[in-house]
Amino acid sequence: MKKLYISLVFILITTLGVAQVAKPSTGTFTLGDKTFLLNGKPFVIRAGEIHFPRIPHEYWEQRIQMCKAMGMNTICIYLFWNLHEQSPDVYNFKGQADVAEFVRLIQKNGMYCIVRPGPYACAEWDMGGLPWWLLKKKDIAVRTNKDAYFMERAEKYLKEVGKQLAPLQIQNGGNIIMVQVENEYATFGSNKTYMENIRDVVRRAGFDKVQLFRCDWSSNFYKYQLDGVATTLNFGAGSNIDNQFKKFTELYPNAPLMCSEYWSGWFDFWGRPHETKPVSALIGSLKDMMDRKISFSLYMAHGGTSFGQWGGANDGPYRCNVSSYDYDAPINEAGTPTDKFYAIRDLLKNYLNEGETVPAPPAAFPTITIPKFAFTETADLFDNLPKPIHSEEIQSMEMFDQGWGRILYRTKLQPTTDKGKLIISDVHDWALVFVNGKQIGKLDRRLGENTLVLPKIEKEGQLDILVEAMGRVNYGQTVTDHKGITNKVEVVINNQTLNLKNWEVFNFSVDYGIPGKLKFKTATAKGPAWYHATFKLTKTGDTFLDMTSWGKGMVWVNGHNMGRYWNIGPQQTLYMPGCWLTTGNNDIVVLDLETPASTTIEGIAKPILDKIRVDESLLHRKKSETLDLSKETPVITGSFPAGNGWKEILLNKVTEGRYFCIEALNSQTANDKTTSIAELEIVGEDGNTIQRNNWKVVYADSEEISTSNSSAEKVYDQQESTLWQTQSTSAKPQPPHQIVIDMGETIKIKAFRYLPRSDKSTAGMIKDFRFYVKSIPFIL
Ligand code: GLA
Ligand code: CA
Repeated sequence: MKKLYISLVFILITTLGVAQVAKPSTGTFTLGDKTFLLNGKPFVIRAGEIHFPRIPHEYWEQRIQMCKAMGMNTICIYLFWNLHEQSPDVYNFKGQADVAEFVRLIQKNGMYCIVRPGPYACAEWDMGGLPWWLLKKKDIAVRTNKDAYFMERAEKYLKEVGKQLAPLQIQNGGNIIMVQVENEYATFGSNKTYMENIRDVVRRAGFDKVQLFRCDWSSNFYKYQLDGVATTLNFGAGSNIDNQFKKFTELYPNAPLMCSEYWSGWFDFWGRPHETKPVSALIGSLKDMMDRKISFSLYMAHGGTSFGQWGGANDGPYRCNVSSYDYDAPINEAGTPTDKFYAIRDLLKNYLNEGETVPAPPAAFPTITIPKFAFTETADLFDNLPKPIHSEEIQSMEMFDQGWGRILYRTKLQPTTDKGKLIISDVHDWALVFVNGKQIGKLDRRLGENTLVLPKIEKEGQLDILVEAMGRVNYGQTVTDHKGITNKVEVVINNQTLNLKNWEVFNFSVDYGIPGKLKFKTATAKGPAWYHATFKLTKTGDTFLDMTSWGKGMVWVNGHNMGRYWNIGPQQTLYMPGCWLTTGNNDIVVLDLETPASTTIEGIAKPILDKIRVDESLLHRKKSETLDLSKETPVITGSFPAGNGWKEILLNKVTEGRYFCIEALNSQTANDKTTSIAELEIVGEDGNTIQRNNWKVVYADSEEISTSNSSAEKVYDQQESTLWQTQSTSAKPQPPHQIVIDMGETIKIKAFRYLPRSDKSTAGMIKDFRFYVKSIPFIL
């Protein structure tokens, strides 16, 4: 017996010893002639993008296996800097943030990994992944080497990423085949030095063996070159593949081709219709890529959820993302397969690399419904104030060391002789305003609101402004998006302006008082309040919390922040992963800033992601309004050449104006009565394109918003894959079609630029046009 025991111990020691010294088998991944080479052999990447922070840790492996079962051989991931470094120098790579564990899980499942560490990511994630505390430096400039502080912080962060992931490069025996440098930099700038610096930082961080790459668009990738870094292109379902890679193959005839973000669907904003993309468009261009042996990464394979405060926003005008990141992706928010999943799986089975097989999908997690339960305990926000901070001047949330959540600004109002105006510049992003405890109105940044009527103040009054931060802008020039009140608060009475000072500031960090510290009582609440309940379960499973009867706020279940809800839609339910529920009692807290219609919740089987509640009049034409151009003289008339890519029209002379109108007389295809525009730009006198952040569509004669989200502001949303399209379904108005834009300021215009659609369709591509400019509105 003793002998056996000793020999067992011996075997154990030796095998462990062997395991410790054995070198994992290393490999190579390089650029060959028009192909990637994996261990020296041609290899087509079929990647699916998933974001580990958007998936409960408990579900990571199932989602990876789902991607493999869809026919993928690689997983592509982002890292979000602001998840890993929530305060300077405090790094977190544990639990939900354990990226190395995620990459090893991918390897365990026989898949490769592409890593996109930032520093900037985009991804409809708060500030595109940049940490909010960068904003405490007043003049911070991001994504540029001209700000030494930004570069220093980015390098420190990337070095921490390197510690986690450099050992997992394929050359070290891991599964990481490529690492991305920055993200779509050409949509932001053309400072090549910055990109070279970030490339070198990524290498110094330990990614010194792996193949580096960058991603950009077919319309802008040529704006800079980056030595030693492969170039890949991003575009969406339905794209014309040959057109997308035309210029690329001209410039890089021997480079492997890859679509590094092949958009399977699209993301949603609060108050805007739910986005979907048809299966046929997705499959069509995917097949075209497979037939040409073009590598791809499907963005997203599975979108997941922007839990907590992580959802981002776009700007110009400001629009914030919903919590669901379902994305109309092939694997839906709850990790189950959709029609797109099976269509992709069926297609990809025909294009496997040597030695590959596609496994069956893993078992789905159980689902449950939860019967309706009521909330009886409430904690009024104004009865649960934290200790205030005094601040002479108003300042943004970040200056009080607060990243997310809500902030209350309070000051005294002197008696006034009359009613007046309260002007808040600027509300980021949504505010309730109270005078002496009575709500006088609300302001919504999305709608450009900043002014309220201030009632006459008899005796001394108290002004309270409660501001809720929605997502930080994650794309474009305005990512340095401060929250709270960013500049000043003024009272205007009889043409006299008073700048309010002397504030008491109450900070409600995003999880303020959760759990436990709030004073709940059994009572109904009016106005901003927390609501508490428990619900009992006999078994756990995934479900969707139906928030339809609530106003606007956030939900925590057993301490997990499930994200934002807002009754304007389109998202009405919150994804509740079963792994965060328990049998027995579950604890739920809701913070609602408005007074809900009814304070009950139930868990339902299917999500509601497409119910717009408030008609924010998405159309840019009042009923029966028409634009009369008969007395106007065009600044220029002409014809656009056929085909894709930007078309620039130089005016005969520099023309000044604030409003411009493009009138499309016909399209490139005979009998096509529609007009479509992907993007419009104006070139100023100095030859540079002007900022479009204050642009507004004041008129569009027709907009297709029933079969697709093709409203007119899509011409300046900085997304080349989104379009303004005139109606092609029910009503089919005849050309000419017009769009009028207010640029918000007078511009000396040298030229204008038109980008037609770049998908497979040619519908609405403009041929003959007239271009008008005016200093006063076209419609008075
Ligand atoms: C770009 C970005 C991604 C994401 C998509 C849209 O391609 O690189 O991070 O924002 O747009 O979903
Ligand atoms: Ca667009």
